[in-house]
Amino acid sequence: RPAATIAPSILSSDFARLAEECKRMVELGADWLHVDVMDGHFVPNLTLGAPVVAALRRHTPAFLDCHLMVSRPAQWVQDFAKAGADMYCFHLEAAAAAAGEDGKESPALSPSEPHPAVRDLCTTVRQTDMHVGLALKPGTPVDLVVPYVREGLVDMVLIMTVEPGFGGQSYMPGAADKAAVLRREFPDFNIQVDGGLAPATIAHAAAGGANVIVAGSAVFGAADPAAVMSQLRGAVTT
Ligand code: DX5
Ligand code: ZN
Repeated sequence: RPAATIAPSILSSDFARLAEECKRMVELGADWLHVDVMDGHFVPNLTLGAPVVAALRRHTPAFLDCHLMVSRPAQWVQDFAKAGADMYCFHLEAAAAAAGEDGKESPALSPSEPHPAVRDLCTTVRQTDMHVGLALKPGTPVDLVVPYVREGLVDMVLIMTVEPGFGGQSYMPGAADKAAVLRREFPDFNIQVDGGLAPATIAHAAAGGANVIVAGSAVFGAADPAAVMSQLRGAVTT
């Protein structure tokens, strides 16, 4: 399994003090900073976009792991690349649906081959300096992401363990079980889990094989965020 990577979600931080919050998390042991981008359409919430990533980039050298919960992921690639994002992780469901709306070739998602528009978007992101991530909502079957991993089109898969849209929700163990399916086939691949992760739920997620751990409320809400991050890390590596 690849190294444990702890990524606090800045969605739970004080947005008025974002730069200091990010700096503090890195000092306390964060490996990456997870940046939740929501467009009020793919999910029923609005957060931030590339201008905020660009502003943050001037204050931290940390790996900015951007999670795009947006209906039109192809629309924002160049903006995020210019802003200095390190990971562009978009939703498989959104990429396929947007292609259909644009009148592009858009067959049903399949476990046997990549969807042409999703493949193209992976390639476009790779042509920037950003890593490519593919995210799955809890209801999306994990076999639909396998073709992209098999063909080496993506650097990470994000398995959502809550319905995307809000921090502070309860962990869905059934969704996390999908990580085990991917881990069996791909021992060296980055598998991220996001939603409801905390010291009380990490054992289950880590047993399934996830190695990149996002946590928002559990880290930012803790009296001792460093201790929480080290508990999360310990569960992954043991
Ligand atoms: C939810 C976001 C998560 C969220 C996690 O849509 O993708 O990254 O910030 O927050 P917690 O850890 O509080 O569930
Ligand atoms: Zn997220």
